[in-house]
Amino acid sequence: MYIRRLLDDEYEDVVQLITQTVHCVCANDYTQQELDAWAPQNFDINKFRANLSPCCNLAAFEKGKIVGFISIERSGYINRLYTHKDFLRRGIATELFLKAEAWAKENGICELSLDSSKTAEEFYLKMGFERAGIAVMHHGGVVFRNCVMKKTI
Ligand SMILES: CC(C)(COP(=O)(O)OP(=O)(O)OC[C@H]1O[C@@H](n2cnc3c(N)ncnc32)[C@H](O)[C@@H]1OP(=O)(O)O)[C@@H](O)C(=O)NCCC(=O)NCCS
Repeated sequence: MYIRRLLDDEYEDVVQLITQTVHCVCANDYTQQELDAWAPQNFDINKFRANLSPCCNLAAFEKGKIVGFISIERSGYINRLYTHKDFLRRGIATELFLKAEAWAKENGICELSLDSSKTAEEFYLKMGFERAGIAVMHHGGVVFRNCVMKKTI
């Protein structure tokens, strides 16, 4: 496995990975309506690309295929982290997170933050984050209560 910056023509592969991961990996923690709102069939790739373009976007590759993705903003906010459903529990998210954390340190960021899904909370606790409240978020008309998590670096 190796990790590098996401290229401009790879956003579509990431959208596919996110859609598959949400509908499969998060299915135990969310209703079908919530999953559809989080990762809709008509995912707006242009909006996604525009939102992510100012961020540090890193992808993990296995045999040339994207198997994980992380996006971190210049503020230290981690706005996406997904591992491919067939590659879970192999340390991919850990490696992506450590690279993003290193990038943050290099860029003078002192605190990382994020709004965690129920599915990812244990992972972030393992990475040294602490719970810091609840974030109420709206996606496709559905309300999500995510856990705000922070880590001083
Ligand atoms: C959360 C997620 C990114 C973790 O990816 P991963 O590549 O499987 O994570 P890692 O293999 O690096 O896990 C490292 C450690 O985190 C913890 N961990 C990871 N997933 C876990 C889970 N589902 N339940 C409990 N602990 C978990 C474990 O301690 C694990 O170490 P171990 O496998 O030796 O026990 C992945 O489950 C995912 O994509 N989830 C769905 C998308 C999502 O919710 N993203 C976050 C949006 S805020």
